Amino acid sequence: MILKSYEGVTARFLRRNERLIHSLETEMPLVFEAKERKDVKFLQEFLKVNSESLMEDVAKYGALLFRGFEIHSDRDFENAILSIEGLQGISEAFMAEQGRERVGDLKYVLHTNTIFKTGGTLYLGGFHSENYYNPDVPGFISFCCLKPSDVGGETGLINMEKVYEHLDEELKKKLEDKACLVEKWLLRDVADRYKISIEMLEGICHQFDLPIVGEGENRLILMHKPNVFLHPVTQKKALQINFFSLPTLNKVLRKDFLKDYQGKTWFWHRFVWKLPHSIFKAIENVFVFFATLLHSPKEQLKIAASKKKTQKAFEKLGQKFPKVSSCFSEKDIEHLSGLMRNFYCSSLWKKGDILLVDNKKVAHAGMPGTGPRLVRALISNPLEMGYSPTQSGCFICQDRMTSSIGAHIATACASERTSKLSSLCDIN
Ligand SMILES: [Fe+2]
Repeated sequence: MILKSYEGVTARFLRRNERLIHSLETEMPLVFEAKERKDVKFLQEFLKVNSESLMEDVAKYGALLFRGFEIHSDRDFENAILSIEGLQGISEAFMAEQGRERVGDLKYVLHTNTIFKTGGTLYLGGFHSENYYNPDVPGFISFCCLKPSDVGGETGLINMEKVYEHLDEELKKKLEDKACLVEKWLLRDVADRYKISIEMLEGICHQFDLPIVGEGENRLILMHKPNVFLHPVTQKKALQINFFSLPTLNKVLRKDFLKDYQGKTWFWHRFVWKLPHSIFKAIENVFVFFATLLHSPKEQLKIAASKKKTQKAFEKLGQKFPKVSSCFSEKDIEHLSGLMRNFYCSSLWKKGDILLVDNKKVAHAGMPGTGPRLVRALISNPLEMGYSPTQSGCFICQDRMTSSIGAHIATACASERTSKLSSLCDIN
């Protein structure tokens, strides 16, 4: 294939020795390697001048890797990636996961997670499209590697367009038929989390098509999501679901990836992956429980209490909601796992690498490895998505014209605080 040429950098695909694992996916990511000029200023200028062409390339190849530039800090990463015209950083995501915190005083650079080490561990699994579990789904996610693992620890990518193309037609029909329930939150707990009035929160949910059901204190926000994304540029469909809701998928994935992790280096990894599923799950649950408890006991207890109340309120509804897991048979899950392995892309990190990923067509996960690892993330371009159960299971992707829902909530919080303060001043 003849690649477009770019002035000042070499555009190429990864060499075999730059991947830990080989697969049918050989054209992701497209690499831009520094030539004479390696400084951040040059990279920023290069990204700005070539923005249009780079956006076309990321849609086509799924991911772009900028390698060999002098990226030494989180700030270098933020300045570089946001030089691409058309990328709008997301500083606040509504109902973001625990441990998803911004780095220092930067507006957009995120810790991958402050509670768990993501990637470079004994774990294999957990592929996801970014923020599928909350309403602010970014069109793009970028990563920057400030310290690669000693062994492995790459951010694994899967081309979900190619996966979807090979799924069974019957399964595709079921997935595209209707949106499925992904997450539920008690309205009162969300208002408490953001220190915002119920009325204000209701208004924002209404504005962004987040359905509220139930009565009084038991009112719930029920977020439904489509299972398939139609890409605005490639016009191809990609599977985008909560992969954790397929209970045996991670187990089958570990089996399918086992042959890729041979030799003494991976002895303990293989040992853990071969444990009986029930023991593996129990270890995973205990680890997650204690990691979150040690991080913030107060917050963890609050979350546990909220989950219990939410489940109770949900059961009170006495209704059945469509779940994506019901679309898949065990055979479908095995087929899906094989496809994910076939279209998996392994790109070993080098210090200073920046990776731009199209979150509308590519799933990712921190892969197994050993040694310390420091990777940062930055999400951008919130998608204009609906969350009601009546919508189709296929989402025609487009960027939101407004900022993220998280940013709206943050503004609402600030304005409520200001009006409370001014009414207090008036009284005094
Ligand atoms: Fe992620």
